[in-house]
Amino acid sequence: MELFWKVLSFLLLLAQAVQANWWNLAAPHPESNSSVEVVTLHKESCQRLEYLAERQKQLCLLSDKMIQVLQTGAIQAVEECQHQFRHSRWNCSTVQNSTDIFGGVLKFKSREAAFVHALSSAALAHAVARACSRGELNECSCDARVRKRTPRHWQWGGCSEDIKYGEIYSRDFVDSREDKNTDEGLMNLHNNEAGRRAVRGRMQRVCKCHGMSGSCSVRVCWRRLPQLRAVGDALTTRYEGASHVKVVERKRGKNIRKLRPLHADMKKPNKTDLVYLEDSPDYCEPNDELGILGTRGRSCNRTSAGLDGCRLLCCGRGYQTRVLDHEEKCRCRFVWCCKVHCELCRYKRDHHVCN
Ligand SMILES: *[C@@H]1O[C@H](CO)[C@@H](O)[C@H](O)[C@H]1NC(C)=O
Ligand SMILES: *[C@@H]1O[C@H](CO)[C@@H](O)[C@H](O)[C@H]1NC(C)=O
Ligand SMILES: *[C@@H]1O[C@H](CO)[C@@H](O)[C@H](O)[C@H]1NC(C)=O
Ligand SMILES: *[C@@H]1O[C@H](CO)[C@@H](O)[C@H](O)[C@H]1NC(C)=O
Repeated sequence: MELFWKVLSFLLLLAQAVQANWWNLAAPHPESNSSVEVVTLHKESCQRLEYLAERQKQLCLLSDKMIQVLQTGAIQAVEECQHQFRHSRWNCSTVQNSTDIFGGVLKFKSREAAFVHALSSAALAHAVARACSRGELNECSCDARVRKRTPRHWQWGGCSEDIKYGEIYSRDFVDSREDKNTDEGLMNLHNNEAGRRAVRGRMQRVCKCHGMSGSCSVRVCWRRLPQLRAVGDALTTRYEGASHVKVVERKRGKNIRKLRPLHADMKKPNKTDLVYLEDSPDYCEPNDELGILGTRGRSCNRTSAGLDGCRLLCCGRGYQTRVLDHEEKCRCRFVWCCKVHCELCRYKRDHHVCN
């Protein structure tokens, strides 16, 4: 009997471990005594992090600072997600003491899961490319490939940020835990790639003039990463227009499984679109098991007809209004590595809160 329970709890643990994801790196670490501060991890931790897959552990060990880059990617992804979803019923809230930082909400193959996968895979490509250009990793530096193409009216110089390396790393790392033979894996792989393309497609060329007293006789240019905010904004637009798909199998020779629109009259998603397989829960009521907080106590906008409006956000339960001295965290900055510093701002305003 005892053995039975041991086996059962082991299997449960295993099932949880499969759910757990690298973005748990954004969570306060068990080795820290503070519940909010994320401790800086060291290379030795790569092997100990049970939520990393084997391949991910190998990739974590590549450079001394890689684990910190992974951590930065995870933290920035969570922060960007919380910014983008600040007015939604699900506000990208994280939970503590769980094997999954999002508390199981993403077990649904939903739009939200699509968004988080795309954003986190984008954030990792972004963080790696940035670290490359700062000389923090052994495997990469600035992108020398761009220099091979010589333009006419200017020249390549400076440090072009190497998004190609960032993408390759992110693909290897993030995609390694997905199984393309499962529906969920197929969906996640598509969205991970869409996220990386959202970064690549927004690379910018910046130039600087050199020459006698601003004559600009020589223009030197390099490629720069977009702000992660621009990537988050773009992915939010994709999230809003995400395609509801199903898995179809073609048995011609070997099994080919593909994602196709749920209904024949819908547009076929391209590689930059987000796709999802299941409708989302409504996120209205709390559900501990799934890590859904519900929308009671959320502040809402009385005059908005949108998602942040009291009508939609409060799920029809109504709201209460108070005049409050308002204090809000503001001017938050991410401080390397890994803290967020904010100031407190005060003002009076009407405050509407969901029942
Ligand atoms: C944990 O707390 C103790 C005392 O409260 C402090 O001395 C120590 O530096 C803390 N450790 C970390 C990792 O913050
Ligand atoms: C999380 O775990 C710590 C110790 O493991 C405990 O003190 C704390 O109350 C737990 N928090 C929640 C929300 O369960
Ligand atoms: C993919 O589809 C979106 C609309 O869903 C469109 O805006 C975008 O330009 C398309 N991208 C490519 C590469 O065709
Ligand atoms: C999300 O909403 C809950 C209330 O449902 C609130 O307690 C929490 O602070 C919010 N989280 C973020 C990141 O805004």
